[in-house]
Amino acid sequence: MINIGSYDERIKNFSWEIAEKELEYKKGDIINIGWYCSDRICEMGKSEKIALYYEGFGDKEKSYTFNDIRLAGNTIGTFLRDQGIVAEDRVCLFMDRIPELYLSFLGVLKIGAIVQPLFSAFGDESLLVRLENAQTRAIITQRKHLSKIRKIIDRLPSLEYIIIVDHNPAKELKEKEIPFSLKNSTPVEEMEIYPTTAESPSVLHYTSGTTGQPKGVRHVHYSLISQYLTTKWVLDLQDDDIYWCTADPGWVTGTSYGIIGPWSLGITQCVLDSGFSAEAWYKFIEKYKITMWYSAPTAIRSLMKAGDEVIKRIDLKSLRHLASVGEPLNAEAVIWSEKVFGLPFLDTYWQTETGSMMITNYPGMKIKPGSMGKSFPGITGVVLDAKTYEPITEPGKVGLIAFKPGWPAMMTTYWNNEEKYKEKFVNGWYLAGDRAYLDTEGYFWFIGRDDDVINTGGHLVSPFEVESALLEHEAISESAVVAKPDEVNMEVVKAFITLKPGYEFDDDTELNIMNFIRKKLSPLAMPQEIEFMESLPKTRSGKIMRRILHAKEWGEEIGDTSTLEDD
Ligand code: PRX
Repeated sequence: MINIGSYDERIKNFSWEIAEKELEYKKGDIINIGWYCSDRICEMGKSEKIALYYEGFGDKEKSYTFNDIRLAGNTIGTFLRDQGIVAEDRVCLFMDRIPELYLSFLGVLKIGAIVQPLFSAFGDESLLVRLENAQTRAIITQRKHLSKIRKIIDRLPSLEYIIIVDHNPAKELKEKEIPFSLKNSTPVEEMEIYPTTAESPSVLHYTSGTTGQPKGVRHVHYSLISQYLTTKWVLDLQDDDIYWCTADPGWVTGTSYGIIGPWSLGITQCVLDSGFSAEAWYKFIEKYKITMWYSAPTAIRSLMKAGDEVIKRIDLKSLRHLASVGEPLNAEAVIWSEKVFGLPFLDTYWQTETGSMMITNYPGMKIKPGSMGKSFPGITGVVLDAKTYEPITEPGKVGLIAFKPGWPAMMTTYWNNEEKYKEKFVNGWYLAGDRAYLDTEGYFWFIGRDDDVINTGGHLVSPFEVESALLEHEAISESAVVAKPDEVNMEVVKAFITLKPGYEFDDDTELNIMNFIRKKLSPLAMPQEIEFMESLPKTRSGKIMRRILHAKEWGEEIGDTSTLEDD
């Protein structure tokens, strides 16, 4: 039996009350994600069920029951509360995918504080802008990341606590640094859960736009309602499933569907904290008998590239359901997965801002490889005309993806940037910033982004951030950053630069620039290539036209160049 039953029946009678009832929540009640993901599951009689199988570097293995994660959440939450952390304080999680990351997530939410997960590969500058913007009060981290925090701490007056989960007593601590060890703490059996309500802020995820600094997408505890139901109906998680979400909780997939969705349903999940290797991934599936696997197109394309031979040597028969998110899932990848696993990857489309899946394929519904599927029940998804902002009814006509606001997991603002938040709404629609068309059966087909943001391997990179980093280099006069096609990552970052008088572009300059920006950018945002130009294409008013450079990279028609500077 599939959880959703029939998609067509569900959309006819849909109400979010379906999820509210299952979660025994009524309007105005307390709703706390930390409690729902641990205490409630224990109250339902699943205390001894495994919540987390963890495997880290060097074959380090650990497992935690739902009672273990309940206690760990209590212990971490109580520790933070004892330090003076209160509701709505921002607590950043800056760790690799170690168990403490997942357990702290629950602990922070249980005391009503806002959890701000950040990808641990971020360098100090990337970390700085996000902590500064959120005025983060505490950061939970590992020894290995401490040097990055020490470099910026003087510029972060709001940051009062640096909590280290693996402190080595032989090492000296600096001001504000506090050791905390789950292993050496007395488990806190009972704690007072902070009475968060539907509107209480829960998670703050940073995402990149075309202009300006990264934006902090603010979610609320009520997001649980749609995260729970989409996990149940799309990922189809059932009581005896063993689930693996490959995303890092530094990104929204890793929290909405790598923590909240599965644990609010009381599902056992697995975490593998290691880099990508096809063989290691397949062996992980074999070892834990993973049944449901949620991953990303770049990973799938990398697996395709690794070849089918390795699959024959490993037993993957446990798999029963696959899904993907983050970038366009090409039809070949779906067809390949059907061939080698006997199962298609179901494409799901959503965003940091939407908090939960919006347009997806469903178990039991016809799949058209290459299509993102249909709107989730309760979600009004349309394609709008780019000029009138009216829905397009004509199949095949490309427009802007938009949604009627009001689903439970929708962001409530961009942190400290209400203006940018308001810009996302036009004519009563939330604009996703992507383009697509609908076919005659109402399936969505993704076309591309409606802005200059680069999606490399499922990670959004702001051209503005990369250009700013380049401009700080002494030799660079101007810079423009666009996407360049790539077989595995779909897009990679490419930079065009002009140099100041007196500088020459040669291998040494290029290396010097690369080393300079490496310190400022996350590894994901690093350009794969820098091209020198005598001048960059500009409008008459002097604005650099990324569009022209983009077209050049993709071998596309350049289109209207009448506003070009030197035509
Ligand atoms: O452009 C779309 C692309 O990723 C963007 C959202 O990125 P982010 O906020 O980082 O969240 C990613 C994970 C939820 C979208 O605006 N995107 C996401 N899913 C798909 C996609 N593009 C094509 N197909 C998808 N399934």
